[in-house]
Amino acid sequence: MEDNILIIGSGAREHAIIRSLNKSKLDHSLYCIGSNKNPGIAELCKEFIIGDIENSNFVIDHAKNKNCNIAIIGPENPLAKGLADALWLENIGVIGPTKNLAQIETSKSFARKLMKSYNINRFPIFKTFDSMIGVRDFLVKLGDDFVVKYDGLAGGKGVKVSGEHLISHDDALNYCNDLIKNGGKFVIEEKLVGQEFSLMSFSDGSTLKHMPVVQDHKRAYENDQGPNTGGMGTYSDANHSLPFLNNMDIDIAKETNVKIIKALTSEFGTKYKGILYGGFMATKDGIKIIEYNARFGDPESMNVLTLLQTDFLEICKAIISEELHKIKIKFNNQATVCKYAVPIGYPTNPIKGEKIDISKVNDHQQLFFGSVDQKNDDIIEAGSRTLCIVAAGDTIEEAEKIVEKEISKVEGPLFHRADIGTKPLIESRIKHMQKIR
Ligand code: AMP
Ligand code: GLY
Repeated sequence: MEDNILIIGSGAREHAIIRSLNKSKLDHSLYCIGSNKNPGIAELCKEFIIGDIENSNFVIDHAKNKNCNIAIIGPENPLAKGLADALWLENIGVIGPTKNLAQIETSKSFARKLMKSYNINRFPIFKTFDSMIGVRDFLVKLGDDFVVKYDGLAGGKGVKVSGEHLISHDDALNYCNDLIKNGGKFVIEEKLVGQEFSLMSFSDGSTLKHMPVVQDHKRAYENDQGPNTGGMGTYSDANHSLPFLNNMDIDIAKETNVKIIKALTSEFGTKYKGILYGGFMATKDGIKIIEYNARFGDPESMNVLTLLQTDFLEICKAIISEELHKIKIKFNNQATVCKYAVPIGYPTNPIKGEKIDISKVNDHQQLFFGSVDQKNDDIIEAGSRTLCIVAAGDTIEEAEKIVEKEISKVEGPLFHRADIGTKPLIESRIKHMQKIR
């Protein structure tokens, strides 16, 4: 039987998902609902419509209309709204957890409470607030090293770190006040020092299959300066580890992902089907958890899906039928680098509506469109991360050289981080880890 697959979302992550599905040897048709017209996605799908992906009724109607039997939810917002629950009720198999389970990402306070009750003690000291009562005292307790996080979804931009974005307790109090004024809860936690990495796992609720580890770069500007972003670029190494990590670090991260799925299953009695993404920090005190996400990372998905050898549709079907234990998942033993080109002003005040030109890029198969729109034949910046380019190579350095050359050929009012994946940056990461451990 042919599978009719609906992909929800229209950024670079979804472009990568669709490109991987398109390579499947199994009979299938691809449909997509997105929020803006991504020309890369449009080219690969049987039908691509623009609509409100957070409106479950709208998505369900479309899925039924097209006889879809599989849905893949890319971004976190539809998960938070319970789109997976609604699709399962219609007998459509979903890659992406139900609303309760997705709280591991959508509520930072839920995630911390869950970890506490299931003895997953790898998170920083924290406290949740919904008023200013006790905020100053807690900041005093933490001293100079603290982080303030909006307790909800902020596209990676709601986090402010002491010494970088908040230079004093008064600064922190002002930010907390703003969050309260906007009706939000927030978390204050201990600032961790070390190197970040992401470990994503496929989960069918019982079995987890892990992907290569990736390092993202959250800060907007070179040398990790500037505000937090959705992620400016990533790299992974040929041995599926990272140059500053050891085997034990990876084993702990894998074990932690397994423990989280077990905790979620015990808590709700239902199976987590989709991708679990652990955001970790290697510190002097071992591996700590920064956050969990309930979906593929963006840009991390570009790295891992570029390396994936196994048929991605086969993996999705095994997740849905709870047969992940039956298949072997293979990734190429190559390094990858991915860099985003983003609009001038991103993330605080991005320009929008300007034309970009990709005609000088050599390999369009390695280019993934993100926040763009198509007007007539022009590709227009839509305000968030515009497009990314990924390359694989025998070494990180080799992949970086290809990506840097290609991304520099994209024309328009954009910028990217030239330092991601370069030798000096990687060496400084290794030195940093050697110094603190
Ligand atoms: P999050 O949205 O929680 O992933 O946070 C975005 C970024 O803020 C992370 O990738 C880190 O760079 C930084 N960050 C978040 N929490 C902490 C922490 N407890 N200590 C140090 N940096 C953090
Ligand atoms: N790479 C960060 C994220 O996907 O949240």
